[in-house]
Amino acid sequence: MATTIESNPPAEVEAEIEFGDDSEQSCDESIAESDTTSLSSSVFDYVYENGRRYASHRTGGDTYVLPNDDVEQARLDLAHHYWSLMLRGKLNLADLPQAKKGSDCDQMRALDLGTGTGIWAIDFADANEEWEVIGTDLSPIQPRWVPPNCKFEVDNFEDNWIYGKPFNYIHGRNLVGCVADWSVLFKNCFDNLAPGGILEFQETDIGRAYSEDGSVKPGSPIAEYNKVLCEAGKILGREADITPKLVDFVKAAGFVDVKEIKMKFPVGSWPKDPRQKEIGTVVQEILQTGTEAYGLASLTRVLKWEPAKAKEFLASVVKDFNNRKIHTVYDLHVVIGRKPE
Ligand SMILES: C[S@@+](CC[C@H](N)C(=O)[O-])C[C@H]1O[C@@H](n2cnc3c(N)ncnc32)[C@H](O)[C@@H]1O
Repeated sequence: MATTIESNPPAEVEAEIEFGDDSEQSCDESIAESDTTSLSSSVFDYVYENGRRYASHRTGGDTYVLPNDDVEQARLDLAHHYWSLMLRGKLNLADLPQAKKGSDCDQMRALDLGTGTGIWAIDFADANEEWEVIGTDLSPIQPRWVPPNCKFEVDNFEDNWIYGKPFNYIHGRNLVGCVADWSVLFKNCFDNLAPGGILEFQETDIGRAYSEDGSVKPGSPIAEYNKVLCEAGKILGREADITPKLVDFVKAAGFVDVKEIKMKFPVGSWPKDPRQKEIGTVVQEILQTGTEAYGLASLTRVLKWEPAKAKEFLASVVKDFNNRKIHTVYDLHVVIGRKPE
């Protein structure tokens, strides 16, 4: 079992971000005949809180603290653009397994867990027309018009997995904070992959905004934001600061050739480097609504703050994310593993 922490990632990713001028299973089932296609009306029992719409509690939305309304869907689609910038246009960093021609099981299948608006799954299906792609989520917020090799299902990935056929690639992105037990999730992924199948999780270390020049000060709104997200995650049993440990969960689940690729990204347009500036600008835009998306139900539903106090605090966090003198950085981790042949 080999573990690689990418030793020579692109220089602009690992170097300190320089800031500029502050003044500016069986194979005989077709995709259409899957046993999990029915949508019960309870998935549309959305919950409205403090001006935001959340997933139905009947499908598991009580433990998922982000909204699913139009504002959030627009944010998720913009976050897809940020991922594309970070991964230099790639949807996956792992090499995809190849179909074994002539075998009974040569239809390649991909699963996107917690697919959100389905934007990654749709792009992956377009880019890999020979694959069948299934995206699953608690909320039915995916479009109806999708590539013919792509479909969506409402499913809670913390319930029993009942897929009739194995997958060749399982993808998850930005699911930290949604998962109670990563060892169970990765074990389910392992069991539902065909031999040689690949797992790839692309995750942001959401509980640790920091700076390299001390401009994110202890006790400041951004530092307090880290703290409350982590506290709420603990109470919910869904840790927000677990991203650096995912690689160990992947290894423990039995995957081999486990690889972790770590990068960092800025919040705001302060970096000097044009690519970092572009990424930082997109991330700053994402956080205009993302700060509340991650924070509002965490503070009110979980930590029992008064909504007005929570909104005031979150506005102060956004104000600091918009302050060019505060050079906030986050890390992201891509973890890849292969199920042995
Ligand atoms: C932060 S969003 C990321 C969406 C998507 N992966 C992306 O990167 O665009 C997390 C998604 O996971 C879904 N989710 C959270 N917990 C889930 C669960 N237990 N089962 C299925 N989906 C879940 C949420 O509904 C939401 O759409």
